Amino acid sequence: MKNPSPPIAYLITGYLGAGKTTLAKRIEAESAAVRFSLDEWVTHLFGDDPPVETFDDKRERVRELMQRYWLRLLGKGCDVVLDEGFWSRSRRGEVKTLAREAGAVVRGYVLNPSEDEMWRRCEKRNRRLDGSFFISRNTFDVLKPRYEPPDESEGFVPIDNPLDLNVAHNLRPHRDGQVMSAQTPRLMIRAANQADIPTLIDLDNIARADREGRRDFIRTAIEKRECHVAISFDEVVGYVVLNYHFYGQGFIDMLYLKDGFRGQGIGGRLVDYVEARCRTLKLFTSTNVSNQPMQKLMAKKGYEPSGEIHNLDEGDPEIVYCKYVNPSKQGEGKR
Ligand SMILES: CC(C)(COP(=O)(O)OP(=O)(O)OC[C@H]1O[C@@H](n2cnc3c(N)ncnc32)[C@H](O)[C@@H]1OP(=O)(O)O)[C@@H](O)C(=O)NCCC(=O)NCCS
Repeated sequence: MKNPSPPIAYLITGYLGAGKTTLAKRIEAESAAVRFSLDEWVTHLFGDDPPVETFDDKRERVRELMQRYWLRLLGKGCDVVLDEGFWSRSRRGEVKTLAREAGAVVRGYVLNPSEDEMWRRCEKRNRRLDGSFFISRNTFDVLKPRYEPPDESEGFVPIDNPLDLNVAHNLRPHRDGQVMSAQTPRLMIRAANQADIPTLIDLDNIARADREGRRDFIRTAIEKRECHVAISFDEVVGYVVLNYHFYGQGFIDMLYLKDGFRGQGIGGRLVDYVEARCRTLKLFTSTNVSNQPMQKLMAKKGYEPSGEIHNLDEGDPEIVYCKYVNPSKQGEGKR
């Protein structure tokens, strides 16, 4: 079936045992994308321990064949998950260009577990090869220089654990991982990391102008893992900060969308996301009386005014809002 919006080409990279195929399978299972795992094709055709002399040639031929098919699928509007290692920067660049020429948007993920963890997974997999190759410790060590991890400019989103990605039909947060929702299938929300700091400072007009200590606020929120970013078509378009500094209650301390991305419901998606993560019965937030868009959003999301605070911004009181987001915690929230 053809997507109304551009198809997505998911590119997954990481070293041996990083969890690439696990992640690719998850995306395939939980989205409309078709998965192309190169090792699976090669082992199916040539076995799980093919002769070294002809290996590169065979792998290359299979890769070319696979490419023909995923390009045809993209051309027909289908999403694809590309799990072919992508160890070299040049191959990643080449595939991005091909996918974009086929009309797709590209979304890249890099898996970076510790070396111990990757080797542990290889050892485990060696005991039951299922579409993957036998990897000796020597191979694991020798191949390392061939992997060029993507640098920041390539836009690959880092993921610690393949289970942290959740391509769900509804918003279903999973620890600090990625979340997608069907209502806005092209929007992804994930925990912010240090690499996001310059982007957030740039998209937030107050931080860009270096006012109100906003830069420090962003840095601290990221350090404390309180900040989450919304990504649309590879671009960070907004952020939300959830903390518990307000009388120990869940509090949306900041919700900010880049100019050009407001008024499209993205703020609502970020609110849904933090509501699902909030640990307290009630979730609070506040905004100035002059901030009509935020007030409209609060009303849409079922927040009730809890009172006004004067004397913060002269002549522009702060309205405090509250919503009961965790009915199961009724009784725990008494102050
Ligand atoms: C306030 C904010 C988070 C709302 O998020 P959002 O994704 O724009 O929310 P919505 O798309 O649901 O829009 C909310 C309302 O504001 C209107 N709106 C907001 N920005 C708009 C814009 N630039 N153009 C047109 N309409 C806009 C929407 O039309 C909508 O009104 P409606 O329900 O009558 O249609 C966002 O506008 C923003 O980032 N503003 C700057 C930062 C800020 O003020 N944050 C809140 C205080 S912490």
